[in-house]
Amino acid sequence: MKEEKHLKVSAIKNGTVIDHIPAGSLFKVVEILALNRCKSQLTLGNNLESKLLGAKAIIKVADRFFADDEMNRIALVAPQAKFNIIKDYEVMEKRMVELPDTIVGIAKCMNPMCVTNHQPIPTKFSVVSKKDVLLQCCYCDKITDQEHLIILKSG
Ligand code: CTP
Ligand code: ZN
Repeated sequence: MKEEKHLKVSAIKNGTVIDHIPAGSLFKVVEILALNRCKSQLTLGNNLESKLLGAKAIIKVADRFFADDEMNRIALVAPQAKFNIIKDYEVMEKRMVELPDTIVGIAKCMNPMCVTNHQPIPTKFSVVSKKDVLLQCCYCDKITDQEHLIILKSG
C-alpha cells in the first residue's frame, strides 16, 4: 500500500526526536522530561512497529534540545532510547542514553518504612547496577530493582 511508504509521524525541521522508547514507557518519558509543560510543537507516536523492541514509541519536540543529564534521566524507563538532534530536517547527531551514577527524584524507594515515603524529601539513589537496574536508596540503603520500580509523578 502507498501509505506504508510515508513516515508514521511527520518529520520535524529543528528539534529533537527521541526514538526507540519501549511502547509502555511513552508517558513515563513525557513525565520525566516534563513535556506536558512544554510549549513547543510536540508529536507523540505510540505502539509503532519496531524490529528492535516489538512495539515502540517516539517523541518529536520541535525547537528543543536536551542537556546530557536531562537525556540520561529517561534511561531508567527507556534504556535503548536514542536522541536524534535535527537541524534543518537533517539528523545532525544521535545520542544514546546512559544511566547516571546517582538518581535524584524520578523513582520511588520500595521500602515502605523509608523516610522518603513519609516526608516531602526527594528520593536519592546510587545506581549499583546499570545493566539490571538496581538502585540503592541513600536514606535507607534498601535496593529497589527493576521489577519494583515505580516512577514518581513530577511536581
Ligand atoms: N526524523 C524526523 N524528522 C527529520 C529527520 C528524522 O522526525 N527531519 C526522525 C525519523 O523519522 C526517525 C528518527 O528521526 O524516527 C531518526 O532518523 P534517521 O536517523 O533518519 O532514522 P533511522 O536511520 O531509522 O534511525 P536509527 O538507525 O537510529 O533507528
Ligand atoms: Zn529508601
